[in-house]
Amino acid sequence: MVELALPKNSRITRGKTFPAAVQGPQVRTFRVYRWDPESGENPRWDTYEVDTANCGPMVLDALIYIKNDIDPTLTFRRSCREGVCGSCSMNIGGRNTLACTRGWDEYQGTITIAPLPHMPVIKDLVPDLTNFYTQYASIEPWLKTDTPQPEREWRQSPQERERLDGLYECILCACCTTSCPSYWWNGDRYLGPAALLQAYRWLIDTRDEATGERLDDLEDPFRLYRCHTIMNCTRSCPKGLNPAEAIGKIKTLMVERQS
Ligand code: SF4
Ligand code: SF4
Ligand code: FES
Repeated sequence: MVELALPKNSRITRGKTFPAAVQGPQVRTFRVYRWDPESGENPRWDTYEVDTANCGPMVLDALIYIKNDIDPTLTFRRSCREGVCGSCSMNIGGRNTLACTRGWDEYQGTITIAPLPHMPVIKDLVPDLTNFYTQYASIEPWLKTDTPQPEREWRQSPQERERLDGLYECILCACCTTSCPSYWWNGDRYLGPAALLQAYRWLIDTRDEATGERLDDLEDPFRLYRCHTIMNCTRSCPKGLNPAEAIGKIKTLMVERQS
């Protein structure tokens, strides 16, 4: 029989509250998803009151402040603090984004922070991205050539290079893929927008000589064609890229090679 309610051990409970030492308009409230697989307890929402006079302007600054000054058990990923590494992707205020490029003053009221949706959670705000990276590797994201290697370099005109604009900037943060309903339901077989944007990046690279092979690999009812142009991916990309458009262009390449 279909189970319509969540299993008891996955229900999110109300957690602890950490009040600010001094109250005032500069205090902002963060409601953060917490789960530690080793505790055997259900996930919970912990509430932290952060005196923003003591931390930097970004949501990531507030998380670092919470970890350093309020609760060292809070776990999250981050590295560059510049929107370049893609590590700090999470769901903030109901939307996937990068914690280091979003100011806490962009949000009204309590700021809710959860891990990227529909991914297994390793701990707190850290999702397991193993499948995401495996799918990325499966599109073989490197230059593939048959002709003998040139003496100096594989050349490209400035115009040919420009075709990669809007594609090479992807930082593999997974905001798009984890916002895609098709990926939520078929993430084991559908490649998702990030991997497909990267697939397109190599398909149109004029130096690459494996276009046919790459298209063959995508010609599959699931790997490519589970995209139903819902556009969540494009709306959630923190780098302003358009994975839905790239996927549409791969589908066009598929049609063109039939004719
Ligand atoms: S356009 Fe395609 S990849 Fe993007 S969210 Fe929709 S189904 Fe997913
Ligand atoms: S396309 Fe945008 S949202 Fe998707 S992985 Fe790349 S940078 Fe992140
Ligand atoms: S810490 Fe690198 S993108 Fe946010």
